[in-house]
Amino acid sequence: MVVKITLERMALRWKPHAGQEEFLVHPASIKILACGRRWGKTEATAALCASAWIERESSRQLLLAPTLDQARLLFERVMDWLRWLWPEAKIVERRSPYPHARWQGHTLLARSGHVGRALRGQEATDILIDEAAFLPESVITEIAMPMLATTQGKLVMLSTPAGMNHFWRFYQMGQRGEHGIWSRSAPSWESPYVRDSVLSVQKQLMSDRAYRVEYGAEFLESSGRVFRSELVHSSLVPQLEICENSPITIGIDFARYSDYTAVTILAGDRDRCSLIHCEQLQHLPWLEQLRKLSDLIRKYPGARVWCDATGVGDPVLEMLQSQGLSAHLEGCVFTPSFKQSMISSLVWLFERGALRMTAHPPLLRELEHFEADGRRLGAASGFHDDLVIALALAAHHLPQSYRPVIHLGENRTFSKSIAQGVA
Ligand SMILES: Nc1ncnc2c1ncn2[C@@H]1O[C@H](COP(=O)(O)OP(=O)(O)OP(=O)(O)O)[C@@H](O)[C@H]1O
Ligand SMILES: [Mg+2]
Repeated sequence: MVVKITLERMALRWKPHAGQEEFLVHPASIKILACGRRWGKTEATAALCASAWIERESSRQLLLAPTLDQARLLFERVMDWLRWLWPEAKIVERRSPYPHARWQGHTLLARSGHVGRALRGQEATDILIDEAAFLPESVITEIAMPMLATTQGKLVMLSTPAGMNHFWRFYQMGQRGEHGIWSRSAPSWESPYVRDSVLSVQKQLMSDRAYRVEYGAEFLESSGRVFRSELVHSSLVPQLEICENSPITIGIDFARYSDYTAVTILAGDRDRCSLIHCEQLQHLPWLEQLRKLSDLIRKYPGARVWCDATGVGDPVLEMLQSQGLSAHLEGCVFTPSFKQSMISSLVWLFERGALRMTAHPPLLRELEHFEADGRRLGAASGFHDDLVIALALAAHHLPQSYRPVIHLGENRTFSKSIAQGVA
């Protein structure tokens, strides 16, 4: 909670808009904010963190986000505040292995949700989670919340909605006033800093559903969606456990007109596999993309690599094949029926709970907005589907699990005397 006098001090640099102020001043110890894109979630959280350094003698604040880059972004905004508030202070700052700052009785840490286990047993007075709907639920309930148990600390979760998952359940508890939880949702247009012109362009570019989720901050059912968000979210884990000898399958969707080249790597088989790498290569010339892809593939000798060989993909695949890689490379032409069976393979992995992955928000967003419209399968307008396609390519080509069959032969019978002798 931020007291009025702190807001007055901060107002020399920054003033919250009405929605942000309501969030900042509320005294609840668990606060949930479900807002549309660009509403000012990260700005408001940074101000909340900085206020603790003004109002309290000591604090230990943990900033969590699905990826370290996102957590770092929030950390930098808090640091901007601290440098502005105390320009002379000698704040001890470290950027690696993870962002960390210390001054007087205060500590600020930023971590990604991937390192959940490393946080076990630690304490915090405040935990602030950005993009909380994209973090595995277990990181929140089994790792973050126990960290606050002994300090009677505060928990703040902010996010755009992502279906009816754990974030929605926390939000609902807040709406019902349970466990002292406060929650609020707001569309992007509540912020006076989000221009109408930007919103109207987005509205034209995106499907109605995607716009309602991303900008209207609505929690929408995933019924009828290709990938049900509850299944996708149950595949999220804080950390992957990978067997050293797992077979590696790589899927690559080459950039075409406006998309990015996407690469995903699965370790394991159809019964149990882990997404160990997920990356978009953005705005890179072809040669640079080839170099990056070759370097990545070289890390997995013996991997099987499947590429989109439709259109521009075909010559690029040939160039990749000429790089002398030891991996097995093959192209697939995307006919509508091939795409359909490839997507079904991925749906099947989720349905069976066979896939494990750490949070990767761009992929989670693509999965959420992947649509089946008649026979057309693909991203809702305004979204990419390159990561989903790369993942589906890999999923479709996963090896069968190897189950040795032991032949036991005929049922054996023992004579009474032998059975008694044994007894
Ligand atoms: N109170 C404010 N005063 C001035 N500008 C603001 C304020 N709140 C937010 N903004 C501006 O609005 C933009 C979006 O803010 P921010 O990044 O915090 O939003 P967000 O909800 O976290 O967005 P995203 O959904 O992209 O993560 C930024 O340019 C930020 O500077
Ligand atoms: Mg943000």
